[in-house]
Amino acid sequence: MFRFLTAGESHGPGLTVIVEGVPAGVSLTEEYIATQLARRQRGYGRGGRMKIESDFAEIRGGVRLGETLGSPIAMWIENKDFANWTEAMAIAPPEGQVDRKANTRVVPGHADFPGALKYMAHDMRNVLERSSARETAARVAAGAVARRFLEELSISLHSQVVSIGEVEADVSLDADWDAVEASEARAADPATGEKFIAAIDAAKDARTTIGGVFQVVAKGVPVGLGSHIQWDRKLDGRIAQAMMSVNAVKGVEIGRGFANTRRPGRDVHDVVVPDPSDPRRFARRSNEAGGIEGGMSNGEPIVAYVAIKPIATMTDPLPSVDINTGEVMEAPYHRSDICQVPPACVIGEAMMALVLAHAALEKFGGDHINETRRNLAGYIASHQEFGGGAAAPGGE
Ligand SMILES: Cc1cc2nc3c(=O)[nH]c(=O)nc-3n(C[C@H](O)[C@H](O)[C@H](O)COP(=O)(O)O)c2cc1C
Repeated sequence: MFRFLTAGESHGPGLTVIVEGVPAGVSLTEEYIATQLARRQRGYGRGGRMKIESDFAEIRGGVRLGETLGSPIAMWIENKDFANWTEAMAIAPPEGQVDRKANTRVVPGHADFPGALKYMAHDMRNVLERSSARETAARVAAGAVARRFLEELSISLHSQVVSIGEVEADVSLDADWDAVEASEARAADPATGEKFIAAIDAAKDARTTIGGVFQVVAKGVPVGLGSHIQWDRKLDGRIAQAMMSVNAVKGVEIGRGFANTRRPGRDVHDVVVPDPSDPRRFARRSNEAGGIEGGMSNGEPIVAYVAIKPIATMTDPLPSVDINTGEVMEAPYHRSDICQVPPACVIGEAMMALVLAHAALEKFGGDHINETRRNLAGYIASHQEFGGGAAAPGGE
């Protein structure tokens, strides 16, 4: 079974990640993972923390001489900022009085209020340390492992910003992805990128924050990942859950799910045509479904649109309360991002990679990557039984 877990606090010593279920024989280096972590750290609108951190995941197990062993892959990402928090975030009980950097004023929209009451946290630092998006560095490290495995199956992932506030991009699945990577706002079109940056600057000047929508695309996904037969096996449901679990994400569409509700059915379904040159022996005239029908990948690119809210922490804070005294006062301001949409793209890619790696291993299995690849090739060959191709074994 493929699974992953993360541990660690935002200002603690670091983040721990364990990824289990990756077959043996997949080449994997710390440098490959570092490339993905660096992508998460870029992006216009980020706050001061990213100037302190330069994330690097040390592999502590599961890899030998550049190849996965089939055993759990353990990784450690040091928090450089911990140097400024050694007292407040010490593991050992304090000796005498220490500056706990306690947090008692609620930030509306953050995890503070429900977390305080649920975990009986009179110091809400105990909640915000883990609800901080610092944890997503660990997910990107896990996602990098999943991505490397998916590359072995010729599956690739991309992402771009669709909108920031009211500014919208005209996005394409065949975007110039190198241009997206080079853009601070993750926009393929430089003029749109400038408009995104202007919207982020305007939010900063207004002492507020700004959200947006991003798109994640997976190409080369074979038909048949996920299943229609049970609610928790549906691939669209699994992708939606994974995306929704990213901090500040409040909406997920597969294809243009919401916009398509305003169009007639005739315009939103993807006609099937014979195509012996396609490994599926069929092609689709369009991809309004976003690559998933009946909870199964249909062989078209998988496309998810993800809505992310404006950040809750603002330089001009909302009215709020002290959680312990009930006194009315302003929410606190801690060093914060203005816009997290560009880095969230990279986190979305990681989540998509983790879901697809899991689904691919369910379908093709394999303790060594050669076995996985052999199973995939055999399965793809079986599509020849359809669409007037070779007769089905045992058929008439
Ligand atoms: C990449 C990224 C960076 C974020 N940076 C901040 C931040 O600097 N300040 C903040 O208050 N929230 C930030 N958030 C959002 C909070 O983590 C999130 O709003 C909080 O955990 C509450 O969870 P919810 O919004 O999912 O309900 C960030 C989210 C992401 C994805």
